[in-house]
Amino acid sequence: MSFDDVWLKVAEIPGWLTQGQARVLAAAAARAAAGDTIVEIGSFRGRSTVVLATAAAIGAQVVAIEPHAGNDRGPGEIHGYADAAATDHDAFLANLSAAGVADRVRHVRAYSDRAHGDVVGEIAVLYIDGAHRYGPARADIRDWGKRVSPNGTLLIHDSFSSVGVTLAIMRELAFGCRFRYVGRSRSLAEYRADLDGSPTRRLRNGGRQLLQLPWFIKNLLVKVLLTLKVDTLVRKVTGREPEWPY
Ligand SMILES: C[S@@+](CC[C@H](N)C(=O)[O-])C[C@H]1O[C@@H](n2cnc3c(N)ncnc32)[C@H](O)[C@@H]1O
Repeated sequence: MSFDDVWLKVAEIPGWLTQGQARVLAAAAARAAAGDTIVEIGSFRGRSTVVLATAAAIGAQVVAIEPHAGNDRGPGEIHGYADAAATDHDAFLANLSAAGVADRVRHVRAYSDRAHGDVVGEIAVLYIDGAHRYGPARADIRDWGKRVSPNGTLLIHDSFSSVGVTLAIMRELAFGCRFRYVGRSRSLAEYRADLDGSPTRRLRNGGRQLLQLPWFIKNLLVKVLLTLKVDTLVRKVTGREPEWPY
């Protein structure tokens, strides 16, 4: 299936995944072979889940870890969204069915830190887009990241955009010895578990991630201005119509 066909299936599903980011996810999922496992943390209504499941080879397993519990739902939606999350759960199942991928996705309705036992073996592609606060974001990168197979792919949404996710990346990945920073599509950062851990390579890898910090600062500024509802200033800073950066 071409990427345009994949995008047609998800364009109407609400979520925070751009077309460019969907392309990166689809390419990563397409690299997984039959028998491989793809894990998504944080599915919301299924926009990214459908991309992964549609692009994956027949026989690759897609596991969606999503509690639909009403916390860390979207920008600024940290606690108290249980009613909305119940609707998200129904919409998630309906969207997977409508896209024809319901039988290709195993939904684990649990918080990511309690779901390790639900996934057996190594992970070929790990996509993290769950709770964006520092603690859980760091735990996802550290504990689930360990399970990514050699040469496997780690994708993180809201990197160099959300404070919690960015600090977690700096702590766990920036100068680590395992994940090579490949690049990003807006806030979707891609890493490959193939870093040769020599000090020079690690330094260069860390430097490439530090270079994303000016973009991070710009995103923070935009978020502050949007929160203060200073739309004209946002237009000046970004040169675009104001929208929450992701
Ligand atoms: C930004 S949304 C995910 C968007 C989705 N990837 C998409 O493309 O539309 C974040 C999701 O993470 C879920 N979530 C919150 N805490 C979580 C946790 N500890 N483990 C897994 N998912 C979590 C929320 O229920 C919410 O649906």
